[in-house]
Amino acid sequence: KPPKPKAARGLRFTPVAPNTRDAVVIPDGYRQDVVIRWGDPILRGAPAFDPERQTARAQAGQFGYNNDFLALLPLPGERGRQVLVANHEYTDEVLMFRGYDPENPTREQVEIAWAAHGLSTVVVEEDRRTGNLTPVPRHPLNRRSTATSEFRLTGPAAGSALVKTSADRTGTTVLGTLNNCSGGTTPWGTTLHGEENFNQYFTGGDRATDKRYGIGTGATERKWERFDKRFDIAREPNEVHRFGYVVELDPYDPTSTPRKHTALGRFKHEAATVRMTRDGRPVVYSGDDERFDYFYKFVGSKRMMPGTGRAARRHNLTLLEEGTLYVAKLTGDSPAGDIDGTGKLPRDGEFDGSGRWIPLVTATARGAVSHVAGMTAEEVCVFTRLAGDKAGATKMDRPEDIEPSPRTGKVYVALTNNTNRGVGSNPAADEANPRNANKHGHILELTERGNKAESLTFAWSLFLVAGDPKDPSTYFAGFPKDAVSPISCPDNVAFDDHGNLWISTDGNALGTHDGLFGVATTGSRRGELKQFLTVPTGAETCGPLIQDRRVLVAVQHPGEVDGASVEKPASTWPDGPGRIVRPAVVVVWRADGADIGV
Ligand code: FEO
Ligand code: CA
Ligand code: CA
Ligand code: CA
Repeated sequence: KPPKPKAARGLRFTPVAPNTRDAVVIPDGYRQDVVIRWGDPILRGAPAFDPERQTARAQAGQFGYNNDFLALLPLPGERGRQVLVANHEYTDEVLMFRGYDPENPTREQVEIAWAAHGLSTVVVEEDRRTGNLTPVPRHPLNRRSTATSEFRLTGPAAGSALVKTSADRTGTTVLGTLNNCSGGTTPWGTTLHGEENFNQYFTGGDRATDKRYGIGTGATERKWERFDKRFDIAREPNEVHRFGYVVELDPYDPTSTPRKHTALGRFKHEAATVRMTRDGRPVVYSGDDERFDYFYKFVGSKRMMPGTGRAARRHNLTLLEEGTLYVAKLTGDSPAGDIDGTGKLPRDGEFDGSGRWIPLVTATARGAVSHVAGMTAEEVCVFTRLAGDKAGATKMDRPEDIEPSPRTGKVYVALTNNTNRGVGSNPAADEANPRNANKHGHILELTERGNKAESLTFAWSLFLVAGDPKDPSTYFAGFPKDAVSPISCPDNVAFDDHGNLWISTDGNALGTHDGLFGVATTGSRRGELKQFLTVPTGAETCGPLIQDRRVLVAVQHPGEVDGASVEKPASTWPDGPGRIVRPAVVVVWRADGADIGV
């Protein structure tokens, strides 16, 4: 039996100490296993992984690289099985290919990278006695979506001149999804996947809109433009307008074409998470992960049809095509002089204030209406950042994942860091982003007016200001700081069934490895943050998913350290010395088979 320290229900485990071990380190009394690794075969006919003999064809039937968001969906009719959906954000060629020459990638290497991007759907089987999960290869629901498979555009920008290309004169069919970071699971049984840093795959863009999205004109890191002209904006100007969306996948129909919803806007979507209005309409929150960028919500106008029958599924697949997209503007309630950029609490004792959702575009069955002067509805959906600029939205410290609490309805926004805040001519600290040169990030708690998901105004306060608790600028919702774990760079967030928020980190600036933390959001232990695990050298903790009996994390980019390569690895996780480092999904459960943290 694991020790059972006093803590909120669900968080009764001995916290893991900060460390730099090349391992997944978990609390005493817990066990772990790798569920699935990069390259594990999932489709019929896919070969076993062989790092020395990789092919694009093999990779297209194997689990992709750099797993990020994870979803587990029920699989009725198959006892003890669930459907795992994973994002594969990007590829690390120097860690994938022996002898890789970054200046001269081969066509085969590029095509392997295309196949290693995208999404994996794979059925997993639960071990009855433990919390372990094992993949079921060749299951009919297993699927790979890659950088070359077919996606359909929906919403106001679909079919518009802005998204037509020489290969797709209808402006409706896109090949591939790129840089799928975090995501969400909908109550109607689909998964959402944010296309985040899509800019890095494109070059040749010197339009103002390209610049606002961080697209350059030099050779890209992976040189894909040499192998497919669509990545060269000078030759195919609109292809780049077809990435940067929220993708919706129906994991129960492996023949369906996943969709990119332009009504939810185009930016570096970190994630997309759903909360329902009381009358059954979806509200989707999404952050734009960039220094000084915004966070958004989409309020759907169509009601979800209950049930899982054909008619309900067909209807619900259209829910994200009609509604209004809003961007957030926040105002602090303390005098500006109280916010000095050091993180010192203002005189009212809290970083807090009010906010409003500014409408940008409304999509209806009859057409779309722009709410932004000087921009058409199509333009707002494709150049959403520029619409946010015009609306005067609040520039945040890199909005990452956003998660509404299923218990309270409060919405948590992870702001990972912003070392440029207040530096040079950049915007200085404000009450919602209260530290200049913000290295460690913070988490904002947002309460919609009347606790209604569709409200147009909200209250907010900072729930967590991250860092070493000994650092006076940190804040843990008022909980005593001598009893919390240090945390830096909150990124992906998830809730457990007890209402605790689980936070994974990316880029720990405290000198130790990234990890996963749990924190109570209500009750007398609100703010008591505890570290549940740490990840190997160079890795980021992604996709946390908390079920009663198990915790899943996606260990992303293990071994990604400057100068590391296949020949000179910085990490040998998960298979040990002499074996290639492999991003993988890890499951953790309690040795005695009981629920996590109770
Ligand atoms: Fe892919 Fe913003 O993390
Ligand atoms: Ca205040
Ligand atoms: Ca992330
Ligand atoms: Ca990140």
